[in-house]
Amino acid sequence: MNRGLFVKLCRSVYRKLLACVMACATFAFCFSCVRAQGQDRAPVYYPADIQYGAQIFASQCTACHGENGDLIPGVNFRAGQFKRVISDSDIRLTVTTGVPGTAMQPFNFGASELTGIVSYLRNMSSFDTKGLMLGNRARGQELFEGAGKCATCHAVNGKGPRVAPDLGDIGSMRTADLLHRTLLDPAGAMLPVSRSVRAVTKDGKTINGRRLNEDTYSVQLIDEQEHLVSLVKSDLREYAVVKTTPMPSYKDKFSAQELADLEAYLLSLKGVK
Ligand code: HEC
Ligand code: HEC
Repeated sequence: MNRGLFVKLCRSVYRKLLACVMACATFAFCFSCVRAQGQDRAPVYYPADIQYGAQIFASQCTACHGENGDLIPGVNFRAGQFKRVISDSDIRLTVTTGVPGTAMQPFNFGASELTGIVSYLRNMSSFDTKGLMLGNRARGQELFEGAGKCATCHAVNGKGPRVAPDLGDIGSMRTADLLHRTLLDPAGAMLPVSRSVRAVTKDGKTINGRRLNEDTYSVQLIDEQEHLVSLVKSDLREYAVVKTTPMPSYKDKFSAQELADLEAYLLSLKGVK
């Protein structure tokens, strides 16, 4: 066998092995997800999600299920009584697919709505709907464009500056709770993907920016002058993800009601269809 052929053969065996290892790892990972959703660990529910779920429930579910969730015979959400649902993922599935042959229709909900619904149904008995703070989307938009100065950094559906992430579909990407935490503590709540990066090239130029995309060899970012920059990692002397954020905390700036308004606005941003 000549050497070239041998190398090729080794490569192909190596690739197959690698694929096999990755498949096993994926399987193990998925398996652990399924177990985690199967309630053998107590799930955690957050107030902002419960509140968002309560709002959705009031507007889209009470017609059939009633305010207390007990109008359908055999189903009583407040008492935790279900016909078929056991785990939280069962609730998500039932709401997404509906129950064929019954009035329970499928709902076209995203992750943030489903998280809200599950959190609310699981906490209906202890949640005080009288204390429900309804966010007002229109007032939230006013705060976004006015007092909050959000629009000086963030674009919405391409309209506005590019130095901070476009929030045009943030309502379908982030849960109510994560948005709430982002407003109170931006640096602490930030997901790694949204963090800024700092790069120093071999000839000493520093580039700060917001990462759009990254692979093993290169990174694409929007720099502070809003230019799209593509950097080859081997040309860099330093490359680091920045743990701080230019976004201020709104903890002391806005009242609880104003935060709820802003969150209602953000949750309504679901991209342009
Ligand atoms: C048009 C009436 C109607 C609306 C609106 C409706 N449901 Fe239902 N839902 C039903 C009926 C009827 C059932 C019982 C189906 C059955 O017999 O299994 C049901 C069952 C369910 C179940 C499964 C309960 C169990 O015992 O396993 C869940 C969860 C649920 N609904 C959630 C919701 C949520 C959340 C909303 C609002 C987003 C909603 N439903 C809106 C009629 C409705
Ligand atoms: C000085 C600029 C600035 C201002 C003002 C600002 N932000 Fe931000 N925001 C950022 C940046 C930059 C990020 C991306 C995270 C980072 O810092 O790396 C961000 C992240 C976010 C995120 C998280 C995005 C994600 O993908 O999870 C949300 C939500 C958000 N901002 C909402 C707001 C709202 C609402 C306001 C106004 C009340 C606001 N921001 C004001 C700069 C700003």
